[in-house]
Amino acid sequence: MYAIGVIYLIIDLGVIMFSYKEIGLVNSKHMFEMAMKGGYAIPAYNFNNMEQMQAIIQACVETKSPVILQVSKGARNYADKFILRNMARGAVEYAHELGCDIPIVLHLDHGPNFEVAKDCIDNGFSSVMIDGSALPYDENVKLTKQVVDYAHSQKDYVTVEAELGVLGGVEDDVAAEESKYTKPEEVIDFTSKTGCDSLAISIGTSHGRCKFTPEQCTRREDGTLVPPPLAFDVLAAIEKQLPGFPIVLHGSSSVPPHYVKEIEKYGGKIPDSVGIPEEQLRQAAKSAVCKINVDSDGRLAMTAAIRRVFAEQPDVFDPRLYLGPAREELKKMYAEKNINVFGSAGHAFD
Ligand code: G3H
Ligand code: 13P
Ligand code: ZN
Repeated sequence: MYAIGVIYLIIDLGVIMFSYKEIGLVNSKHMFEMAMKGGYAIPAYNFNNMEQMQAIIQACVETKSPVILQVSKGARNYADKFILRNMARGAVEYAHELGCDIPIVLHLDHGPNFEVAKDCIDNGFSSVMIDGSALPYDENVKLTKQVVDYAHSQKDYVTVEAELGVLGGVEDDVAAEESKYTKPEEVIDFTSKTGCDSLAISIGTSHGRCKFTPEQCTRREDGTLVPPPLAFDVLAAIEKQLPGFPIVLHGSSSVPPHYVKEIEKYGGKIPDSVGIPEEQLRQAAKSAVCKINVDSDGRLAMTAAIRRVFAEQPDVFDPRLYLGPAREELKKMYAEKNINVFGSAGHAFD
């Protein structure tokens, strides 16, 4: 009985369903309203393990930023869905322990189908993405609406992100040869038919560390790649169609050249790495873009730090001695992004 008093449980057909509010999480609704008004974006950082989660929370507490912790299908396969959900609960308590109860969303990234989205909603996620962007338009509408109807009918409203348009780039479970920009003429019909709470769009960002081919870029004198600019005209046209509606940017790692250089200096091979320049993300954050997704930069920062330890201290074999510095590097990077790129620092209690 005591446990039931502490955590709100609903027994439904034998499934224990958790209310995200009872574990201290929030959905993204208020966050996006404030981000829209304040001209900043909420950082959405992917996590798969404890060190990544701790780094995200440390950085967001230190900079007093709201945050979206996101879990991909790959992360659920890697770390186990119950462990990840309990880590998000741990994240809430960890922020409290660090002295600042920042608002935290637990979000499913690139939900592949209704079943996975429902499973997350039933298990304490406060927000889900349903990614029907590879489907024909009408099927995307149908699938998104099915998830929205379920998410919005919960006792505690679960927010839903949908996607229109196709991002380029390759990640484990998200792959497309070429990007196709979102069509501004479709967004009113799509959002009104589905009832989604936010919309991920394609304006030239893409997943992974190679966001553009070398042929799409120009080169500086030192050989580094300069990517083509994002399609801000498409973003502006979408904003005009949907004034005040929260827009999401995926594939928004900036692939910092100093991490790429460090990884290669210590034996890594990651040629042709190129990301989205920070100034363009800052510009987007000032617009209707309310959520910006970053995963690859975290991978690069961790890998650079771990390779550095292995190269400089070959006798190290205690994982804490390389995962600790990796966590520190991640925290530094996330804090800088909150301050200089997303502009979310100081907005935890808007
Ligand atoms: O957008 C995709 C994310 O970067 C997740 O990647 O499926 O390898 O966890 P993942
Ligand atoms: P990056 O690969 O640019 O970090 O994008 C992550 C992302 O969009 C997660 O959904
Ligand atoms: Zn994505």
